[in-house]
Parts: sequence; C-alpha cells; structure tokens
Amino acid sequence: MTISTDARPRRTFAVISHPDAGKSTLTEALALHARTISEAGAVHGKAGRRGTVSDWMEMERERGISITSAALQFEYDGHVINLVDTPGHADFSEDTYRVLSAVDSAVMLVDAAKGLEPQTLKLFRVCAQRGIPVITVINKWDRPGLDPLQLMDEIQKEIGLRPTPLTWPVGSAGEFRGVLDRRTGDLIHYTRTAGGATRAPEERIAASRASEVDGQAWATAVEEHDLLTMDGADHDQGTFLAGTTTPVLFASALLNFGVSQLLRMLIELAPPPGPTPAVDGDAREVDDEFSAFVFKVQSGMDAAHRDRLAYARVCSGVFERGMVVQHGETGKPFATKYAQAVFGRDRSSVEQAFPGDIVGLVNANALRVGDTIYAGPAVRYPPIASFAPEHFVSARAADTGRYKQFRRGIEQMDQEGVVQVLRSDLRGDQSPVLAAVGPMQFEVVTARMQSEFGAAIKLDHLDYSVARRTDNAGVEALKGVRGVEVLSRADGTHLALFPDTWRAHTVARDHPKVMLEPLPASGG
Ligand code: G4P
Repeated sequence: MTISTDARPRRTFAVISHPDAGKSTLTEALALHARTISEAGAVHGKAGRRGTVSDWMEMERERGISITSAALQFEYDGHVINLVDTPGHADFSEDTYRVLSAVDSAVMLVDAAKGLEPQTLKLFRVCAQRGIPVITVINKWDRPGLDPLQLMDEIQKEIGLRPTPLTWPVGSAGEFRGVLDRRTGDLIHYTRTAGGATRAPEERIAASRASEVDGQAWATAVEEHDLLTMDGADHDQGTFLAGTTTPVLFASALLNFGVSQLLRMLIELAPPPGPTPAVDGDAREVDDEFSAFVFKVQSGMDAAHRDRLAYARVCSGVFERGMVVQHGETGKPFATKYAQAVFGRDRSSVEQAFPGDIVGLVNANALRVGDTIYAGPAVRYPPIASFAPEHFVSARAADTGRYKQFRRGIEQMDQEGVVQVLRSDLRGDQSPVLAAVGPMQFEVVTARMQSEFGAAIKLDHLDYSVARRTDNAGVEALKGVRGVEVLSRADGTHLALFPDTWRAHTVARDHPKVMLEPLPASGG
C-alpha cells in the first residue's frame, strides 16, 4: 500500500469568516455529524460557548476570542477530515494567513443577514492568492436574511467568483424547511430537534412529491433553481479547483441543517493533499519520504503544559512518532518523541500522521514558522509570506530590573512571529519597535510578556502606518531624512517606516535611487 492510499481520503481545510458568522457553531456541528462528540455544546459548552476549546488565555476568555490555532481531526464516511482552526477575533493577525498555508481548501462561511463582511473578504483574498479552492456556506438561514439570489449577486460582485449553488433553500431566510439538491432535483427536508443539540433528521423526497410537502416554498425554489440553470450557474469541478467558481450550500449551523451536505461536498469536491512545491522548483509527491513545514509556533498554551509547540503540516510520506528528522534550516537532526495531536487543551499523542495531517511538536525550540523538516533527500519549502505591518509601537520593560526577562520575551515573540521586532542603533536594544498587521497583537504581547516572562512592558504608539523594504544603501541614504525611520529585523530585512503613503511617495520621489519596495499587502 502506498502513502497516497492514506493521503487520498484526507481533506484539510479551514473555515474563513467574519466573527459571529457561526464558525464555532459550525465546527461543533461538523464534529457532531462525525459523531466525534455526542451532543452539540460538548466542545464549546453551550452555557460557556465563549470559552471554546481553543481559547487559552485569560484575555481570550474575557473577550470571547480565540487566538490559538490547532486542528480538529475526525473521520467521516471513510475519510479523515482535518479542520484547521483559524483565529477568530475581529482583529487581523498574521496567524490566520499562516494557517491558510496549511490547508488544501477553505469553507467561506457567510451570515445570511449580513452578506460578505470585511474579515471574510480579507481572508478570501489570501485564499485567492494562494489558489485555494473555496466552498461557500450561507449560514443562519433559519433567521431572517437577504434574498438568496441577491446573495449570489453579491458574491459574484465582491469577490469575482461565480457562485454555483449545489443546494438551494426551500423557504426564505427565517423559514428554513429544507434544500433543493440541484444535482438530483430532490427535496431534502429537515426536521428541527430541541435546540439543535442533536443531528437534525433529514428526509430525501423526490421532486414529484416535494410540492405536497412544501407547497409554495418548493415552487419558488424550483423557479429560482431553473433561473440559475439557465444562467449556467452549475458546479464545474475544473473551475472550482482553478478558483474561478465557488460551490454554494445553504445551512443553519445552529439547527444542524445542511451540515451533512457540507461534509459530503468536502469529501466529493474538496481536493486531497497533492504535491508540495519546494524552493528549488521541484515538488515532493505525497508518496515521497516524510516532509512537513511549520506554519505556527506557540508557547505557554496553558499553565499545565508550559512548553513550546510547533505545528507542522505533513506534506509527504508518513510521520511516525519518535522518528528523527532533519531540520532544513539548521541541518540538525530533530527528534519527534513528543508529537501530539492538539485541539485546544485536549492533547493526545500522535503515533502516525499522513500528508494533510497537522502534528504539534513539543519542545521544538529550534523550529520557526516556515521551517521545513524532512527525512531522506533534503527539501526546503518556500517561506511563508509575512505581510506589511501597519501598526507600530516602541516597547520597553516597565521595570528596568527585569530587562533580561524582557529581552528573552521579546525574542520569543519575534521567533513565534506574534509581532515583527525591529531594531536600530538609535533606539538601542532597550526599546525595540514592534510591528503588526493588527493592533490586537500588541495586547497579546503585553499579556504574554507579563504572564510568561514576568516582564511587564510599556508600549508607546508610533505615528507610522506604512513600511517599505530597503537595502543597505537605503539605510545610509535615508539617514537624517525627515518623515522616515529605518529599522531592521533579525532576519536582516531593513524596513523604512513612514507616517502615511503620501510621505512614502514624497521620499521615494526625492530619492529616486533608493530602493523602497512595498511588502505584500494584507489585503485591505
Ligand atoms: P463565530 O465562532 O464565527 O464567532 O460565531 P459563533 O459560532 O460563536 O456564533 C455567533 C452567534 O451566532 C452565536 O449566538 C450563535 O449561536 C449564533 N449562530 C451560529 N450559527 C447560527 C445559525 O445557523 N442560526 C442562528 N440563528 N444563529 C446562529 P450568540 O447569541 O452570540 O451565542 P449563544 O448564546 O447562542 O451561544
């Protein structure tokens, strides 16, 4: 048996959505369908849904956000589903982007009443850049919302993907009775259960009998389905995988309606793990020897496990716990004695993992985001893009007596990529500049510096919002120039910071020979 036999039934995906669209509820509903949990609420705790399993810091609990990323793995109908958790807070974090480098497809979850929201659009753009195929789920159809055809228009207009609905709702938003299965023409009729706590029974009814069950609602659905068909809005696997169309499903995660259809579509349409392109242009096939790349590093997940975890996505071969692998960046061997599958606080040892799976490597102090680990012939995967920071603060230890702890903590934050740490001779090591895509990262740093390193920090807002990459010559040329400050990252990248784009343009115009290169934008 080859590895691809194990890789083929794997589906590794993430849910992209705006906060409150129902991602936690959907995660729970998927797990419920896969019978990983017996009752909805077991993962998140109905009363304390806000304390989801992936929450780990006090701050998160207080604010009802989830900052960590882990993966939930479950089996469904002979397939292994890896749902990689994306951070759920409204603010913007690079972690979310990194997570998307570890998945083969994404589910875009849209609130039926709100349509496409800013965070969803940002995340969608990352998927588009990375060529990740997207399945769209219109959620909360049990509540009053927009007209379904209007929603399809909005998707087409806002993201440029052609929606190709696989199901069409029977009953307007707020009166969700079932869906028309556009591939067979059948009605799938749903029945509510108490509080949506258990799998909602569904009945497949032939089109010829459907109007007896759902009368006018069915007639409307058929009419709209015909319109879509005339318009050619039918699923096409080629254009879906190429990222120009998006299959659409209608659901209520809360009532567990449409969830089994989503699982079916993941199995039938979402791509399995494929070859992973390496830096030298070659690709590792899933059947090649073991390789993986680190997409997230995290420490201090909870007091009981104060350690450092590197999350790696397996790209090729079989991972066996205990195997010694090579670390691409240092060339040093790395023992994987403590590999774990991690979802929130529940950890269990991983014995074996296949392409598409996510493993958490404990005490992986040498591993950084973007690093490759492998067995057999050397391989290096391309680094994960870091995005242009838009928020800047200068940081210093609140208590100068704790400077050592401060330095250690800042270095750790830098290595984990929680923020980018920028230095200059002028500012010195005592007050490095922290740069982030979203300002919430600064709160994360503040909380973690205090709780993990015992080093309270003071942050001063800096009036910069634009960063451009420059080179050694640029560092010299821009010395003393007004409206720009040049700082450097530990990886040797020099960044010129400007208060605004206008200033960046002016400096670029006045110094035409200086390299001032935009960094990849976060998408909006
Ligand atoms: P998130 O992870 O995307 O932030 O969203 P989450 O699942 O926490 O859901 C946000 C709110 O939307 C929750 O309500 C949740 O119950 C509700 N919700 C999710 N899916 C559906 C759905 O399909 N239909 C309806 N009607 N509501 C849905 P809440 O009042 O904030 O929390 P709770 O008290 O219900 O737990």
